[in-house]
Amino acid sequence: MSQEYSVAVVVGSLRKASFNRKVALALAELAPSNFKLNIVEIGDLALYNEDIDVEPPAAYKTFREQIRNSDAVLFVTPEYNRSVPGVLKNAIDVGSRPYGQSAWSGKPGAVISVSPGAVGGFGANHHLRQSLVFLDVPCMQQPEAYIGGAATLFDDNGKLSEKVRPFLQTFIDKYAEWVARHQK
Ligand SMILES: Cc1cc2nc3c(=O)[nH]c(=O)nc-3n(C[C@H](O)[C@H](O)[C@H](O)COP(=O)(O)O)c2cc1C
Repeated sequence: MSQEYSVAVVVGSLRKASFNRKVALALAELAPSNFKLNIVEIGDLALYNEDIDVEPPAAYKTFREQIRNSDAVLFVTPEYNRSVPGVLKNAIDVGSRPYGQSAWSGKPGAVISVSPGAVGGFGANHHLRQSLVFLDVPCMQQPEAYIGGAATLFDDNGKLSEKVRPFLQTFIDKYAEWVARHQK
C-alpha cells in the first residue's frame, strides 16, 4: 500500500465565494488517493504581535500544530496589490514563531496563484516564494502556476472547466512527486 501524506492547504482569501478556495477544493479532488489535502483556516489568527505570543492565543497554537502535523504545505492565493494578501502573510508569520521553532521548516511546498485578471497573481506568487526560501520550505519550481481568468474556471454548478482541469491535474501530480521526494 502506498504511503499516506497529509497536506496543509493555506488559502490566502477569506471570501466566502473565493475562487482560490474553489481551486484548493478542486486540487483536493484531483490529488492522488494517498494525498489528503486539508484546508487550514487562517481567518481567526490575531495580527501577529510578539507581545501576545508570550502566552500564545489558542488559535496560534492550533495553527502551528496543524502545520507541524502535516507532511507538506500548499499555498493557494490571490494577489493583493501585486503582493501576498495580508491575511496570508500574517499566517506565515504566526507559523514562523517562536524564533527557532518555525512550523514551516523543511515542509515541501508549492504555490498556486489565482486571479480574475490576466496576469494570474504572478506578483503574489513570487513574493510568497521569497518568504518560503527564508523559511526553508523546499518549493516546487515547475510547473509554475499563475491561473488567470478565475471567473471562468467554474460553471454555475461549481463544475471545474475542462480548459483548466488538465493543468491542475499535472500540477497536483507533480506536487505529489515533489512531496514524496522531499520527505525527511
Ligand atoms: C485589496 C485588493 C487588492 C487587489 N489587488 C489585485 C492585484 O494586485 N492583482 C490582481 O490580479 N487582482 C487583485 N485584486 C483582485 C483579486 O484578484 C480578486 O478580488 C480575487 O477574486 C480575490 O481572490 P478570491 O476570489 O480567492 O477571493 C485585488 C483585490 C483586493 C480586494
